Amino acid sequence: MTRPAPRLGEVRTHRRIVFSGLGALGVAAALAGCAGSGDGDGDAGPAVDSGAELASKSEVPVGGGIILTEEKIVITQPTEGDFQAFTAVCTHQGLLVTSVEEGTIRCANHGSSYDAASGDATGGPASGPLAPVGITFDGDRILAA
Ligand code: FES
Repeated sequence: MTRPAPRLGEVRTHRRIVFSGLGALGVAAALAGCAGSGDGDGDAGPAVDSGAELASKSEVPVGGGIILTEEKIVITQPTEGDFQAFTAVCTHQGLLVTSVEEGTIRCANHGSSYDAASGDATGGPASGPLAPVGITFDGDRILAA
């Protein structure tokens, strides 16, 4: 069976999850099976080999981002052509963040938020920033540094 292409704002429950304006409540429901269940199973940080392909630039929406659930990395594009990457592990209780929209990385598990450009915590209960993850580029490809 062929899977239809995702529509704008639709969550792809695949290895990569794209967010571009989906409400936090819907995202939380969609991620119930992959972002942990509150038992802290998302507390290990990113573990990828240098040079591993993470995504293509075209997959990362401007003003939004993608969350790589297996790699536990969130890649954002706060402004066109500016790509940033951070651990997707929330600094509150170690669960995975759940969405990226309008320049904000959100963790709907308990309501924390982070600046998509810097990773700084902008709303509690998390008080610490998301750690940056090094990335490099090869054409349209985004690679782990
Ligand atoms: S684990 Fe993210 S807000 Fe609690």
